[in-house]
Amino acid sequence: MSPRGRPSERGTLLDLRGILADNRIVPVIVSDDPSVGGPLSRALLAGGIQIAEVTLRTPDALRVLTGMADTPGMVVGAGTVLNARQARAAVMCGARFLVSPGYSPSVNEVAADAGVPVLPGAATATEMTRAIDDGHTVVKYFPAAASGGPAALQALSAPFGMLEFVPTGGITQVSAATWLGLPSVIAVGGSWMVTPDLLRSGDFTAVTALALAATRLPRPEAEGARA
Ligand code: 3PG
Repeated sequence: MSPRGRPSERGTLLDLRGILADNRIVPVIVSDDPSVGGPLSRALLAGGIQIAEVTLRTPDALRVLTGMADTPGMVVGAGTVLNARQARAAVMCGARFLVSPGYSPSVNEVAADAGVPVLPGAATATEMTRAIDDGHTVVKYFPAAASGGPAALQALSAPFGMLEFVPTGGITQVSAATWLGLPSVIAVGGSWMVTPDLLRSGDFTAVTALALAATRLPRPEAEGARA
């Protein structure tokens, strides 16, 4: 497989964990309008966010991803990757990482073969056990709010101390602070700064303002200090 991408980025193994730790916010994009790509990447970068997940939930999602990925400095991955076929297509279109809502060995296999990091979904003790068995150390906790909120993740973090989490699903600017305060949370994902309404209306000024507000959420005092 020969992934698309700028020459400087092709073939380099992405440090996804490092990018998550630096950004702490992953905008989750649902759009079917490829023309938003460039402006959206620039708006997020202006707001201090260098990573985004474009969900494969619309027919033209891969073109949105491609449009965003063409902006230097923006690391764009594909989300809602449900099977190997979608995983391969996303990699071919330049996805720098893959995100699956549930735990999918076939998506993980495509990612490993392509040398692209994957953030597998794991919301139960069984999925987390499987993720650890397969060598994963960072997983997406989805759907975060509906799966019991921060209290549930806190409880799950006790036996799974070797995992770091990216809670996503139902997180807001207000609740993000609580999630980010959990020692096991490396970053949170969400659509609140890139809502379909903002994208449809082309309000990229608002995207930048919301991104800035998100990046200014307090960071825990002692990062990595897990009780
Ligand atoms: C996802 O795909 O990760 C979530 O649907 C994003 O959730 P949100 O729209 O509730 O932030």
